[in-house]
Amino acid sequence: MGEVEIGGAKNAAVALLPAALLINGVTTFSNVPNISDIRKICDILSTLGAKVEWTEKHTVIIDATNISETHAPLDLTSEFRASYYLLGALLSRCLSAEVGMPGGCKLGQRPIDQHIKGFEALGATVDTVGKITATAKKLTGADVYFDVRSVGATINVMLAAVLAEGTTTLTNVAKEPHIVDIANFLNLCGADIVGAGTDIIKINGVKELKGDFSYSVVPDQIEAGTFMCAAVASHGDILIKNCIPEHLDPLTSKLIEMGAEIEKSGDSIHVVMSPNKKLQPVNVATAPYPGFPTDLQPQLGVCLALADGTSILTENIWESRFQYTTELNNMGANIQANGSTAIFQGVKELTGTKVVSSDLRAGAALIIAGAVAKGETQITNIHYIDRGYESIEDKFRQLGANIVRK
Ligand code: EPU
Repeated sequence: MGEVEIGGAKNAAVALLPAALLINGVTTFSNVPNISDIRKICDILSTLGAKVEWTEKHTVIIDATNISETHAPLDLTSEFRASYYLLGALLSRCLSAEVGMPGGCKLGQRPIDQHIKGFEALGATVDTVGKITATAKKLTGADVYFDVRSVGATINVMLAAVLAEGTTTLTNVAKEPHIVDIANFLNLCGADIVGAGTDIIKINGVKELKGDFSYSVVPDQIEAGTFMCAAVASHGDILIKNCIPEHLDPLTSKLIEMGAEIEKSGDSIHVVMSPNKKLQPVNVATAPYPGFPTDLQPQLGVCLALADGTSILTENIWESRFQYTTELNNMGANIQANGSTAIFQGVKELTGTKVVSSDLRAGAALIIAGAVAKGETQITNIHYIDRGYESIEDKFRQLGANIVRK
């Protein structure tokens, strides 16, 4: 049996660190993933006047007592998606914010109209020509109904509303574990947020958030799910430690349908896929939490590519998340992707070749594919993978994969 330790959630940490800007004092974050998107956020927070110090590999101390600048560097903020959280945080604390157009993985259209709708409802003026600026004389609580369940818009408008005057009600919000994590952190510092994790979040504005708190980032359910898929695709036996098994229920149920044996125990999940069993085909459709996560769709896709029969995968969140299927087909898979649907005719094995990582989760899927394929697989564009996984090659090597970074 192999063992792997899961780190803090990227998609929680990318919001928690900007949230520290709301705090008139010092915050210590532990279990912070040491990945490129997070290091960029730390650099940006420093340019805004916060004092940022990594005291250990996974511990960051942020002193946001003095914020001297509300214009974040346009080039740095354009390099990743989550820079949009600086808008909500700076608007809340300073009533003024400027960031570059958010970048990140190319997954099709990635609008931010729901973020803007929320900021405007609170009284801000938002301009999106060339860069994004948001300013307000004052923020006042409001009712916001989101047209789509958006992780980013839910967190961003929550950040903006925390210090607004009066009550904000957000309806049709996203319910991912990291939404709850951000609300828990803000409440620890004195915010008054109720309902995170349900369909409606109510935020009673407070005058100030206090510092001197330590907060541990929630474990990364997508990293954990990536190793669960690796266990199944490789017919392996992996104990995944430091995760919250309940956050992985949508994946767990599909992997059990495929024939895996999965046991949850405290903060671990044990996944075994017997070498004597064939992977069963399944149909899966991505959906906002607690639906099947889009961020695990490509990794599960590798399992489906190797299943004994036909599976249908439907992607309902992003328009371009099947780019990895072309790479898997180059490795011998038989996948027909068309629009939001991909049909997987399972094959017996994959064969190593040169493949390109088109985005973060596609890259993770290709590592799994390369680990189980016959022969050598070379993956390029690995900077995408480093955006979201810390030491991924070390973790796979520890589990028995023959993998090196060149
Ligand atoms: N949407 C809108 N308008 C908006 C915002 C979103 O129409 O204003 C739509 C999007 O186009 C999409 C859906 O709503 O179809 C959901 O988007 P969401 O806002 O939830 O996505 P996000 O906040 O931009 C985060 C993660 C993504 C993850 C999605 C869905 C971060 C930095 N990114 O993106 O993570 O796929 O939620 O769970 O938290 C990844 O980690 O690989 C990744 C892409």
